[in-house]
Amino acid sequence: MALSILGIETSCDETASAVYRENSGILSNELFSQIELHKQFGGVVPEIASRSHLEKIGVIVQKALDEANCSLKEIDVIAVTNRPGLPGSLLIGLCFAKAIAWAKQKKLIGIDHLEAHIFSPFLEYNVPFPYLCLTASGGHTSLYFVTDFGKFQLIAQTLDDAAGEAFDKVAKLINLPYPGGPMIEKLAQLVDFEDFFSYPRGTSQVTNFSFSGLKTAVLYDLVKRNAYDLHKKQFLKDMDERLKQQVASSLLVAIGDIFVQKVNDALKQHSSAKALTFVGGVACNAYLKQRLHDLCTKENCSFFTPSPHFCTDNAAMVAFVGYYKAKKKEFSDLYLDILI
Ligand code: KG4
Ligand code: ZN
Repeated sequence: MALSILGIETSCDETASAVYRENSGILSNELFSQIELHKQFGGVVPEIASRSHLEKIGVIVQKALDEANCSLKEIDVIAVTNRPGLPGSLLIGLCFAKAIAWAKQKKLIGIDHLEAHIFSPFLEYNVPFPYLCLTASGGHTSLYFVTDFGKFQLIAQTLDDAAGEAFDKVAKLINLPYPGGPMIEKLAQLVDFEDFFSYPRGTSQVTNFSFSGLKTAVLYDLVKRNAYDLHKKQFLKDMDERLKQQVASSLLVAIGDIFVQKVNDALKQHSSAKALTFVGGVACNAYLKQRLHDLCTKENCSFFTPSPHFCTDNAAMVAFVGYYKAKKKEFSDLYLDILI
């Protein structure tokens, strides 16, 4: 019998559930995004996030089963994200998963959210091992050398903010709504991704990224242009669309340069890498995808990036990791806890 996995993901602000079946792939991928709830606060409010997960989890899991035309009876394994993430959010998904596993006598597997992102391209492609993976989201920016399913080595990570966080924080500085990434991309496109302000590119060490200096550089550049009041924490040129476009474009080009430089260095150090994958919410960005794709063409390696709905948080990637862990019989018990 083909294994069927129910995936559950609640690590941040998306309540998600999906069904993955051996030999068939993803049968459903359901999600409730809390973006509208957090927008007015300019970022995710943990307390609101957990309450919303609690409200939605039952509905979303049922929707995933219905959409897959699958009853709980046919599910063999519950795969749930138990690390890392917001504690209250993780707990809702984990408690829900444990309750089903206990009541319906199902196997349970705790999944690392980052591992789920790393293997998300396999939902659509057969990526050749070994390969390099650039993970960029609101909480993480890391480079991995991936040798097999479940086998990966961290080769670089951010010392401070994540790339997505830099987009979100700069967007907030210039009064753009949360999440900042998509809006920054739209504005940058209007001015053809030109680098107007040459923001600093930061650390040159291959082993780490750093984005908080970039955000601070944007802030002080705005102050210098009399566009930001540091004391009132207020953007002063809200009507100046041109300035917003210039900031957005300069930021995006700077982050593009940083990604290209780090990946280029990593490819040199790991010459056996046959491919590069680009995953996480920031990988929705068409400009960044193109920059990395161009680099890979130049360096003669393949490039894979998931469709946008598999880049942002989703449960399909969680169910997929659950599948290969189930094949290896790497099950968890009901004492499984969250890790943050
Ligand atoms: O993976 P994700 O959905 O959630 C986390 O695990 O953090 O990533 C969300 C992040 C946010 O910071 C958002 O601004 C960024 O991904 N993002 C983008 C784009 N779409 C989403 N950043 C740049 N360009 C985009 N088009
Ligand atoms: Zn994520």
